Amino acid sequence: MEENKTNISRRGFLKTAAAVGAALTITPAYEKVMAATNATATTSGTSTSGSATAASISAHRTLGTGKVAFDVSALGFGVMGLNYHRGVHPDRKACIRLLHEAVDRGVTLFDTAIIYGPLSNEELAGEALSQFKDRISVTTKFGLEVVNGKGTGRQDSRPATIRQYCEDSLRRLQLDSLPMFYQHRQDPNVPIEEVAQTIADLMKEGKVQRWGMCEISADTIRKAHAVCPLTAIQSEYHLMFREVETNGVLDVCQELGIGFVPYSPINRGFLGGDINEYTQLDPSNDNRPGLPRFQPEAIRSNTRIVNALQQFGRPRGMTAAQVALAWLLQKKPWIVPIPGTTKLSHLEENLRTMEFSCTTEEWKELEDTLAAFPVVGDRYPKWEQERIGK
Ligand SMILES: NC(=O)c1ccc[n+]([C@@H]2O[C@H](COP(=O)([O-])OP(=O)(O)OC[C@H]3O[C@@H](n4cnc5c(N)ncnc54)[C@H](OP(=O)(O)O)[C@@H]3O)[C@@H](O)[C@H]2O)c1
Repeated sequence: MEENKTNISRRGFLKTAAAVGAALTITPAYEKVMAATNATATTSGTSTSGSATAASISAHRTLGTGKVAFDVSALGFGVMGLNYHRGVHPDRKACIRLLHEAVDRGVTLFDTAIIYGPLSNEELAGEALSQFKDRISVTTKFGLEVVNGKGTGRQDSRPATIRQYCEDSLRRLQLDSLPMFYQHRQDPNVPIEEVAQTIADLMKEGKVQRWGMCEISADTIRKAHAVCPLTAIQSEYHLMFREVETNGVLDVCQELGIGFVPYSPINRGFLGGDINEYTQLDPSNDNRPGLPRFQPEAIRSNTRIVNALQQFGRPRGMTAAQVALAWLLQKKPWIVPIPGTTKLSHLEENLRTMEFSCTTEEWKELEDTLAAFPVVGDRYPKWEQERIGK
């Protein structure tokens, strides 16, 4: 993997941070982060390089090209599950502490959306991360309607709404300019050129720096990119859902120099191996019980896939989640997965993915093994699949 440079040691990271720090104002909060991390460093797991340091990430990747290029850590952090759609979650303080740990460990890309919560996930990201805005980026998403703090299930990308949502996101994220604004789902009633022009205007005004689209077709990507260059496409992509390899999306990204951000890269936790047919998920704050692939019958059958990942990982010293993330990273140097977690141990495990590399032949062996286990159950129920951009 060309991008998988060995991580710098924790001491190296701190040295780099210190050098960068010359140009930074060291806030009390930052000092607290360093203190918290120093405390955890002594209890963290061992790395494959033999050092007993906390996991960190130094490898960077570039999403997009030219004026809209975006330099980010090779793995981002999906903020959504800290308080939305992933069931029981830690209290706010613990969430903020975990986000600070991620910053301290070198993560520079954090992903949220207006609809997560709704609103409260952006608020959490703003509270935890705005103090680090000079060295990390929070990306967010518009396009799914929120009225009086509640999602309506409708799409709304009318220019006036995009402008309003942009102002609201700036306020909640405590930023002057959004590093990246994605259209979350296409609005069938607003031509994509009109959306792209609205974003181009917001860029001219300095309110948005870059933009992207989620779950969108190759044709629409072309049309949008012609009006306002895209930095990244964010769609579901992992070992149990590989549609972007065949529907032209990855091809068009390659051709036009657009980055790709796979969401739910561990298939909402399933590929990490902690979920089985008896797992109790709380439907009041978890969308997984409503997904066909998370029904007990599907889970039972699809567990063969997780077993295959574990078998592949075991002789290599990798966990199933690390196999899932490393597989994505080796696909293209302009792919940046955004796994989410509520746990420091999983954050560390996910970041340590960067310490492994496998050959093309080894990955082919894994893909061949998995071909024997067809995935059971759709990823989305019908109503949700219908919102996917054409
Ligand atoms: N654009 C879109 O339409 C869209 C849709 C969905 C998501 N997203 C974005 O993608 C991000 C990630 O997606 P996601 O949360 O759906 O899926 P994910 O990252 O594939 O999975 C998150 C789940 O995996 C578990 N996990 C994380 N690391 C693990 C490990 N090493 N071993 C075992 N389990 C592990 C987490 O549980 P623990 O808390 O126990 O670690 C969590 O429940 C979101 O935060 C959001 O920003 C975008």
